[in-house]
Amino acid sequence: MEAIGVELGKRSYDILIGFDCLPGLGEAMKERGLASDNVAVITSPRIGGLYYDTVEGALHEAGITSVGRWDVPDGEENKSLDNFAAAVRWLARFAPDPSIEPAVVTLGGGVIGDLGGFAAASFRRGVPYVQVPTTLLAAVDSSVGGKTAVNLPEGKNLVGAFYQPRLVYVDLGTLRTLPEREVRSGMAEVIKYGAILDADLFQFLEESVEEALGLEAAVLTRIVSRCVELKAEVVRQDELDRAHVRVCLNFGHTLGHAIEKAADGRLTHGESVAVGMVAAARMSVASGLCEAEVEARLRDLVVRAGLPVRAEGVELERVLAFMAHDKKFIAGRNRFVLLSDIGRWVEREGVPTDLVRRAAREAIS
Ligand SMILES: NC(=O)c1ccc[n+]([C@@H]2O[C@H](COP(=O)([O-])OP(=O)(O)OC[C@H]3O[C@@H](n4cnc5c(N)ncnc54)[C@H](O)[C@@H]3O)[C@@H](O)[C@H]2O)c1
Ligand SMILES: [Zn+2]
Repeated sequence: MEAIGVELGKRSYDILIGFDCLPGLGEAMKERGLASDNVAVITSPRIGGLYYDTVEGALHEAGITSVGRWDVPDGEENKSLDNFAAAVRWLARFAPDPSIEPAVVTLGGGVIGDLGGFAAASFRRGVPYVQVPTTLLAAVDSSVGGKTAVNLPEGKNLVGAFYQPRLVYVDLGTLRTLPEREVRSGMAEVIKYGAILDADLFQFLEESVEEALGLEAAVLTRIVSRCVELKAEVVRQDELDRAHVRVCLNFGHTLGHAIEKAADGRLTHGESVAVGMVAAARMSVASGLCEAEVEARLRDLVVRAGLPVRAEGVELERVLAFMAHDKKFIAGRNRFVLLSDIGRWVEREGVPTDLVRRAAREAIS
């Protein structure tokens, strides 16, 4: 297995990446002192149906006697305060003995990782937890970095905490059961890492994106490991998203989020981000920040990943209105993460409105 460290002083932890390695989860936890007598697995009906038995077996094999399962219903709409409350109340029943500190395992995509991580952050003011991501997006993005949250009707991720896991354990073999559209959507975030931070990764993707989408073990392990390394370094420099480093991960997301909302569920997050990245590259060229070739290479890779480069049928005014409400727009001034080259990001504030409008218009027509 590949092992990557997230260096955060006392809060440091490992990310282990392998293929069909789920049966080794218990041992990996035991080696790190995480084999509590009580291990609470938070998952969903679909994901638990596929992988809970393997996880339970792996934990028992490591000598963990009491293993429990709690299911949060599948889907973003279930990353809610109600389901968070249900999960922590279950934890209270599952681990009633105050002398035994339970450990939480989140088994699933970003929805389960975010909600389960927040449950671990707040139950008894924080118990150790292990992220076991089962989507490509969760493997390269949401499972690393300690951002946990649930949604409110008033907005996404409005209640949460920074709370680092004690281990991230990635079994890329679990992606075999993930719908292909979800794999492609996760690939948008993979492309993002190459575009903003690593020209070599970008070039490797140009050589092998089809193999990666086909879940070829060696190729995918190399790509995911590199993405995780990049995210780990960004998190090391800016754990709490205040040092103006973590902001680079918003590349393609300013316009992407607005398009995602305006598309009313017709586009996935990754598809919207793909459109947003191509638009941001176009803005970078139009602002004189980089050569036209940068946009062309990004567009080609997005197309080869089976992702859209524009979002047809979405209303321009709605996209612009959602963008104006984006939390990244501070005091009314827009902010975009743009590219000065493949693998090099820059942040630009106060991009001329006509340029933004044009980029948005071209992204939807
Ligand atoms: N914490 C962070 O830093 C961070 C970063 C990015 C995104 N997020 C959050 O992540 C969430 C999106 O995560 P996601 O894209 O993983 O979506 P998701 O968790 O909703 O999973 C997508 C779908 O795939 C199913 N699924 C998951 N793994 C499977 C598998 N191996 N086989 C079959 N089906 C499987 C799920 O049941 C679900 O229906 C959002 O809520 C977003 O806010 C968090
Ligand atoms: Zn994203």
